[in-house]
Amino acid sequence: MHSHQISTKFTVFESAEELSDSEKELLQKAIEVRDHAYAPYSDFKVGASVLMETNEVFLGNNQENAAYPSGICAERVAIWSAMSSLPNRKIKKIFISARSGKTMVNRPVAPCGACRQAIAEYETKQVSNIEIFFTGEIGKIVKANSIKDLLPWMFDNSMLT
Ligand code: THU
Repeated sequence: MHSHQISTKFTVFESAEELSDSEKELLQKAIEVRDHAYAPYSDFKVGASVLMETNEVFLGNNQENAAYPSGICAERVAIWSAMSSLPNRKIKKIFISARSGKTMVNRPVAPCGACRQAIAEYETKQVSNIEIFFTGEIGKIVKANSIKDLLPWMFDNSMLT
């Protein structure tokens, strides 16, 4: 029997001021699209911006539904939009911002498990890392250099062979 430990890395930015100018713009785009989310049930709005290797940016926000499970997260809207338009291009970075109508979200909001799995699919496909930046409405911004840092032991297509 052996015990193992997996450690993952992340970077914390105290505020957007510590990001590069282009990263500030990407975060701003995630914030703007976040505020157009359709979230009448949770009152929790999330926005995501996806930077492609072509420098094109794709946006998405959460879209809820009276039949709750029919709703979808911001990250998957943005990623699938990007992959629908540019199926053979690589994703470089994803920015995520979240805000609640009920309380001030002052800590980083990490992508949910299903969105991590979606990011993992494309990181595996493109064989290069995707940087993931996530934050709340105010406060710190966390950056992971790869989905592997958010989803250790991830399931991917190598398991299917
Ligand atoms: N949500 C996202 O859009 N992204 C996440 O990573 C976490 C959760 C949405 C789904 C739902 O509309 C609302 O936030 C509350 O869970």
